[in-house]
Amino acid sequence: MNDDLLDLDRRNGLPAEWLTLLSRHPRSSWQSPGTLGMTAQFWLDRHQAFRQLGQALQDSIEALRAGRSAPEDFQAGFVPRLRLFLGELNGHHQVEDLHYFPVFRQAEPDLAPGFELLDRDHQTLHAELIATAEAANALLQALARDPSAAEGPLETYAEISGDLLSGLLRHLDDEEDLVIPLMIELGEIG
Ligand SMILES: [Fe+2]
Ligand SMILES: [Fe+2]
Repeated sequence: MNDDLLDLDRRNGLPAEWLTLLSRHPRSSWQSPGTLGMTAQFWLDRHQAFRQLGQALQDSIEALRAGRSAPEDFQAGFVPRLRLFLGELNGHHQVEDLHYFPVFRQAEPDLAPGFELLDRDHQTLHAELIATAEAANALLQALARDPSAAEGPLETYAEISGDLLSGLLRHLDDEEDLVIPLMIELGEIG
């Protein structure tokens, strides 16, 4: 498969040649007692928190669009949660790039192309994260000026943040498929 077909917005999963360990340790086995160490479970929990927070932010945008929430109520919940989401996501990717991926690459050189792809995902997601923050600022400024005239910035934000969330969901699933079986295989001591 060439690299372009593996881009975050085009692929539907990882190539089979990187998923040998996943077939040995399928998702259905992960929650069996004693299978996951603390780090793997923590990592999965972080990913789940990103999925939930990302979806909650999209839901609050949908509520604003549909007129189910007033602009001031929307802002009170949206601003701190978006700040948390973007900040934590950025920190999570840095920890993976700097600490986890180098260790995994060294432990399993055959999977190095997989970690390069995840690294590239982080760059894509980072650009989308910045675009989302900018679109959010434009939306908040428009709401402060005149909520009845904020439709354009609202649509722009919904589209840009929707791209971030769909890319993130793809990335989280693929990263888990690569990393969790490797952590189970290696064990976590050391
Ligand atoms: Fe990641
Ligand atoms: Fe991650």
